[in-house]
Amino acid sequence: MRAPRSVFACTSCGAQSPKWLGRCPDCGAWNSFEEEVATPAPPVAGPMRGSPGRPGAQARLYADVDMVQAERISTGIGEFDRVLGGGLVPGSLVLLGGEPGIGKSTLLLQAAARFAQQTGPVLYCSGEESEHQIKGRGERLGVGQAPLYLLAETCSERILEEVQRLRPALLIVDSIQTVYSTTLQSAPGTVGQIRETATQLLFAAKSGNLPTVLVGHVTKDGALAGPKVLEHVVDTVLYFEGERHHTHRVIRAVKNRFGAVSELGVFEMTGSGLQPVPNPSALFLAERQPGAPGSAVLCCMEGSRPILVEVQALVSSSVYGSARRTTNGIDPQRLALLLAVLEKRAGLNLAGEDVFVNVAGGFTVDERAADLGIVAAVVSSLRNKPVRDGTAMFGEVGLAGEVRATGQSLLRVREAAQMGFTRCIVPMGNARPAAPEEPGGGCTVVGVRAVADALDEVIGWD
Ligand code: TYD
Ligand code: MG
Repeated sequence: MRAPRSVFACTSCGAQSPKWLGRCPDCGAWNSFEEEVATPAPPVAGPMRGSPGRPGAQARLYADVDMVQAERISTGIGEFDRVLGGGLVPGSLVLLGGEPGIGKSTLLLQAAARFAQQTGPVLYCSGEESEHQIKGRGERLGVGQAPLYLLAETCSERILEEVQRLRPALLIVDSIQTVYSTTLQSAPGTVGQIRETATQLLFAAKSGNLPTVLVGHVTKDGALAGPKVLEHVVDTVLYFEGERHHTHRVIRAVKNRFGAVSELGVFEMTGSGLQPVPNPSALFLAERQPGAPGSAVLCCMEGSRPILVEVQALVSSSVYGSARRTTNGIDPQRLALLLAVLEKRAGLNLAGEDVFVNVAGGFTVDERAADLGIVAAVVSSLRNKPVRDGTAMFGEVGLAGEVRATGQSLLRVREAAQMGFTRCIVPMGNARPAAPEEPGGGCTVVGVRAVADALDEVIGWD
């Protein structure tokens, strides 16, 4: 039988089919199939057989395996190290995703310069900008004297030749979608090319113990472009988030083989590049107007770090038949649920009210402990009564109107105390009074059982 000369591959998961399909049967994506030149399947079990350098590895008894503490190399940028779980691990492959213009190249150039100064030579390969463009940006970022090599190249074999020649201590490839391998005929950015080049870079990273950072584009709906296989191949996946009209940027780890996920690094985009923000609470509360109705401060956790954010709500009577609920930074479904709880358990009538909820500063809160803050902001706006002075809060609201305990309550209270809050409304299950010598000692902890009690404490409603 003659092998087909072209196949259709799903751009989101890499599934292949001999003919075009409107919907991928594997991942369910619509209109994701693209035609590619077929490549013969690699012999035997594929490129992942055996670990690099030790093709014939044998199984070993668990007890005989030595414990090796993964060594960490600092990138020179504290917030970047934090999301990586303490720094780069030698031989690890890191994927940094984010929308165009968010600051991926800026951050990596800054990290490359610091790394080159502190640790050793860095090879920065760019398929998107020329060396002159990179240099132009580097001048603004104050790169200075460092063994930083720039290479405007998109052929992966050429990149690996330069790696062999220069023996860098860090390799950066901006972006994986622009790189192609001469072993395939398809265009850069196709599923086959991304899979092939990422695998080549993976082997180079593992065999040379070379930490490698890849930049990945994201698609319109926010997922990393290219096949999902890319996320499986790499050790760490980081996402760069932020809104265009805000200056702050957040990096989140969504996968990390060497550390905790949901760790967060916060930066601010300035005229001289990205500056780390060591105290994000201060940034997110900077423009708050204490005493304004409809504003509540909640203590959320991002990884191991507590962050205070302001939730704003505006409740106004609806002029249309059906009331609108609009959110920014929280899940709209969660708001709908909390409004239903307020109607049923706290006796409020919100059916004829438009409700708008916004997390200030463009931050996104994805945590149940945010419920109490959302509820407080909504009721504060509805009653036109400000939240009591110096009050912060956290807690999950259940369907029966109960306030449920959450994790890491002490850290949250401490952060509130450090930011100058004097009262913290917490679930009764978390209301262990903070000992005076603890840093949270300056903050009165008020435990509440039900959402109605919480509202009483927060805005003194009746
Ligand atoms: P960039 O790193 O090119 O984004 P990406 O690689 O993710 O596509 O980010 C460029 C944006 O950042 C651009 O809109 C300008 C802005 N910027 C600053 O505000 N200050 C700076 O010092 C630099 C270098 C860029
Ligand atoms: Mg870029």
